[in-house]
Amino acid sequence: MIEILKGMKDRIFDDAEKMEYIYNISKQVFKNYGYTKIQTPILESIDLFKRGVGEETDVVSKEMYEFIDKGNRNVALRPEGTASVVRAYLEAGLHKSNPNIKWFYYGPMYRYEAPQKGRLREFYQIGVENFGTKTPVLDAEIIKMAIDILDRLNIKDLVVEINNIGETEERKKYLEDLVNYLKKYNNDLSEDSKKRLLTNPLRILDSKDLNDIKIVENAPKLYDYLNEENKKYFDEVINLLKLHKINVRRNDNLVRGLDYYSSTVFEIKSDKLGAQSTIIGGGRYDKLLDIVGNVKIPAIGFAMGVERLMLILDENKYKQENKYDKYFAVYNEKTRDYMLKIVNELRLQNISIEYDYNIKNFGNQLKKADKLGIKKVLIFGEDEMNKNIIILKNLELSTQETLTLEELLKKGEYNV
Ligand code: HAM
Repeated sequence: MIEILKGMKDRIFDDAEKMEYIYNISKQVFKNYGYTKIQTPILESIDLFKRGVGEETDVVSKEMYEFIDKGNRNVALRPEGTASVVRAYLEAGLHKSNPNIKWFYYGPMYRYEAPQKGRLREFYQIGVENFGTKTPVLDAEIIKMAIDILDRLNIKDLVVEINNIGETEERKKYLEDLVNYLKKYNNDLSEDSKKRLLTNPLRILDSKDLNDIKIVENAPKLYDYLNEENKKYFDEVINLLKLHKINVRRNDNLVRGLDYYSSTVFEIKSDKLGAQSTIIGGGRYDKLLDIVGNVKIPAIGFAMGVERLMLILDENKYKQENKYDKYFAVYNEKTRDYMLKIVNELRLQNISIEYDYNIKNFGNQLKKADKLGIKKVLIFGEDEMNKNIIILKNLELSTQETLTLEELLKKGEYNV
């Protein structure tokens, strides 16, 4: 047997349905905020991610699925959605014709990471990107939109963490001071952080190593390096989140794992997920369009990990909202065609109905309905056929009634 690749997952039965459920709820919320869908390719030029996400990030330097295609191009399976959406925006020339764009997307992403609970090599993200606007009102609204989705999924006990990582110039000065501070502890830092001190020191701030955490506690704080305008901007985002009744925790060490961020960044975490606790990550990337396409357009967005959401989904709510009546048709050789005609009518009305493809006796067909968990059975005997009626039997309530097709359709007991 050839087995599935490590870190990949088949989504069967309820797993596939749950993904669809999460997507449908998110889509509804996005539409309420005026977002429309964008779909981009899974395969992109590797340079897009090197330039967009950053060569020194783990995602690009260690985790990318990359190869040379038959035309000698260096390509990669997308590790995230933002860079592709930015490329699509620029390629469509929207920065000139229609700069204010609100898009959402849904699809698989690929990162060659060590798989564990909530961490896969192929995982699905639902994300949004908003181009052309920079105001605290939008930053707060983006977070509110994420919370709306989580509320509708009845996912509770979440922590919203927020930070403002300033602009490149502010970070430059900060990084100098941070590196000088961390150098003093070089021997005590974890191996990963020692390397990061040379390549990407900001990431040391969100190291999970306990010793690193202790060292970082007394490190200089980025907030102190923000200019007055950015401090005001940050405070205003927090005020607006209060207005939206969202509790946030300011986290001075929240820096995100991708290089394109500036100003507002945030993560939404659940303590039910163990080490992979972040279900949503996002923030502003006001410089990315300049880096990829030499245009100065601000942007903000977030993405959520669908598999992580599935791990903390409210099962009862999911089941409640995905319940619909199912019917099972029982028939014999003589009534087969009568049954098929009625089944066609019912399916036209979006009623879920099945039957046994191999004709067996009524008792066996009823057993099959039971096995499928279907409680409503339509019986097509010869008598019924001659009178043009149907018997509806409810196996759960042990009731039975005789109906015409019109009466059955009027019952409204179906809501697929
Ligand atoms: P990210 O934080 O790298 O951000 O990923 C967003 C979310 O994707 C994570 O919070 C997590 O739920 C999920 N995720 C990431 N890696 C894995 C994995 N290996 N297995 C399962 N789930 C995973 C981004 O990707 C940015 N593009 C978000 C963004 C959009 N920022 C602005 N716009």
